[in-house]
Parts: sequence; structure tokens; C-alpha cells
Amino acid sequence: MKKMFTVAIDGPAGSGKSSTARRVAKALGYTYIDTGAMYRAVTLLALRNGSLDNRENVIKLLKENKISLKSGSEGNTVFLNDEDITHEIRSELINNNVSKISSFPEVRTELVRMQQEMGKNGGVVMEGRDICSVVFPNAEFKFFFTASVEERAKRRLKDLEADGSSVTLEEVRESIIKRDNFDSGRGVSPMKKTPDSIEIDTTSMTLDEQCEFIVNLVREKEQNDG
Ligand code: DC
Repeated sequence: MKKMFTVAIDGPAGSGKSSTARRVAKALGYTYIDTGAMYRAVTLLALRNGSLDNRENVIKLLKENKISLKSGSEGNTVFLNDEDITHEIRSELINNNVSKISSFPEVRTELVRMQQEMGKNGGVVMEGRDICSVVFPNAEFKFFFTASVEERAKRRLKDLEADGSSVTLEEVRESIIKRDNFDSGRGVSPMKKTPDSIEIDTTSMTLDEQCEFIVNLVREKEQNDG
């Protein structure tokens, strides 16, 4: 039987990790897991219950509700209990509050536990901020994606415009910088490149090039170890 590995990808917003992870998973026949979507789902839960500033209540809500991901060829469908919240968690309101929720240690402990369970048998491409450092430090493949802030803001703007939002490039740029600083400066599991991760600067790369690079590495190991 074909050996199934764990592919871990970390990096900031707009670095290209999500599109790449999704395509790589499809090419390899692996399951794609977008862990940012899980932090976004908890943020939505907290906002709906007016509990953004009440840490204990957020933890309680997380325990009382079920957050789940369904992996499909177009990415993850995200559920809060039985409700499909895939689109709602991409709003600017969530963008502006998700860093705060993801800095709560108890939220991280619970979501990391769920992510480790989801990926325990390998055959996953999991992307986030702490996958290489905390969730799967022993993953066979570890990548850290980067890109210039300008390029990342342009990419994010394109996504937001496609969703009907009317924000400006400058607003997106500011929100990206703010979130980067928060995510890399937080006390628990800050976003950082681990020494054993391969850094991929996607500023001038195409999606095809990014995917090909990773898929080739994994296929080579599958053949050698299989
Ligand atoms: O990848 P994203 O933009 O959807 O992630 C949303 C937020 O969730 C991001 O600002 C930081 C947080 N996050 C995290 O702390 N750890 C992860 N593994 C994934 C996301």
C-alpha cells in the first residue's frame, strides 16, 4: 500500500499556503485541512454570543458546540454544529477578531488536539501558523510560506472583491500587517519558521510552480519509502 505522509505548511495570510495546500492535497489524494478555518469558526461563535472579551465563556462555548471540517476537491466546508459557515467566516469582521481568539491558550489546546486527531494517520496536507512547530513537529514535510506584504495585500483584495466586499488595498494591507504582528508576537505558539522547515517565497512564483515543488518532493519519498 502507498505510504501516506504528513505535509505541514505554515505562513502568514496571503502567502499562498491555502491555495497550494488545497491543490497539493488533490494531486496526492491526501486530505486538506485548513486550521485557520477552525480559529475563524470559534471567532464566529464568540461574536454571535457577545463573548469576544469573556475568555471563560469562549472556552465553554467551544466545549458545548461542534466545529467540523469536510474536505472536498474545492477545499474545506466548515460546520458549526449542522450549520454551513464556510462563507460567513471569511468576512472582515472575522478577519479583525480572529487573532484575539487564537491567542487564548485554552482555545489553542482544544483545536490542536482536534487537529492531531484529524491527521493522526497521515495522508494530510495541513496548513496554519503552528503546524510545523506544535501540531505535527515530526511531519515528514514542513514548509514555511512567505511573500511580500504588497503581494499578499493584492491577493487578499482580489479574494475579498470576488466576495463582493468593497475594501481598499491600503485597508487590506494594514489589516494584514496588524494580524502578522499579532500572530507572530503572541505568547502562545507564535507564528514562526522552525529551523527544519523549507522556506518558500511565493512573491514571484505561480501556483503551479509552488504545487509542483511540493508534489515532486512527496512523490519522490513515496517511491523511495514505498
Ligand atoms: O489562515 P487564516 O488567515 O484563515 O487564519 C486565521 C487566523 O487564525 C490567523 O490570523 C491566525 C490564526 N491561526 C492560528 O493561530 N493558528 C493556526 N494554526 C491557524 C490560524
